[in-house]
Amino acid sequence: MDFEIREALPSDAEQILLNAKKCGGETDNLSYGKEGFSYTLEQEEEFLKNLLKSQNQILFVAEVDSKIVGTASYTTSNIKRLSHRGSIGLCVQKKFWNQGIATSFMEHLIKFGKEEAEAKIISLGVRSDNQVAIHLYKKFGFEKIGTFEGYYEIDNELIDVDYMNLKL
Ligand SMILES: CC(C)(COP(=O)(O)OP(=O)(O)OC[C@H]1O[C@@H](n2cnc3c(N)ncnc32)[C@H](O)[C@@H]1OP(=O)(O)O)[C@@H](O)C(=O)NCCC(=O)NCCS
Repeated sequence: MDFEIREALPSDAEQILLNAKKCGGETDNLSYGKEGFSYTLEQEEEFLKNLLKSQNQILFVAEVDSKIVGTASYTTSNIKRLSHRGSIGLCVQKKFWNQGIATSFMEHLIKFGKEEAEAKIISLGVRSDNQVAIHLYKKFGFEKIGTFEGYYEIDNELIDVDYMNLKL
């Protein structure tokens, strides 16, 4: 299967919202479920327009046959004392798991963090029981710095999240 990773464009807004609903409905590993993001199409377009202008934040999409099947974000703070850190998050639709898409996303995110955002640390939060994602992050050198007990509440269950850092 061939896939392409590229920066998201405002014209991707509709597919990105659909992708969030699809990803969110297929896993409880994310901060959202099948409802996806709360943005309207117009808000998402505006968000993507602003992101495109940003030097230190980015959204990547993975495309298979011109359809978006996953997204990966790199965000940071514009507050000077926090801007040396970046945060990442990613999802891939289930049908496309285990084909290297997230690995390629990670390469793009780390390259962006180093070369464009000039970050010193990249951070992420991952459910403590998400073995696949933890395997992926360790593969790129991320190390666990601690656990936030009860970070999520899903169906009345409190879920722990590990924080992991990569020092660049
Ligand atoms: C986590 C996720 C992004 C991985 O995406 P993917 O495109 O399938 O990832 P890749 O194919 O690049 O790599 C998967 C790796 O996990 C490994 N893996 C697969 N099943 C595994 C398991 N049960 N336990 C441990 N590792 C596993 C694969 O072998 C591969 O590692 P390798 O490259 O060393 O062989 C995807 O499963 C996903 O979107 N899940 C739901 C949302 C989510 O969990 N996002 C992360 C939130 S922090």
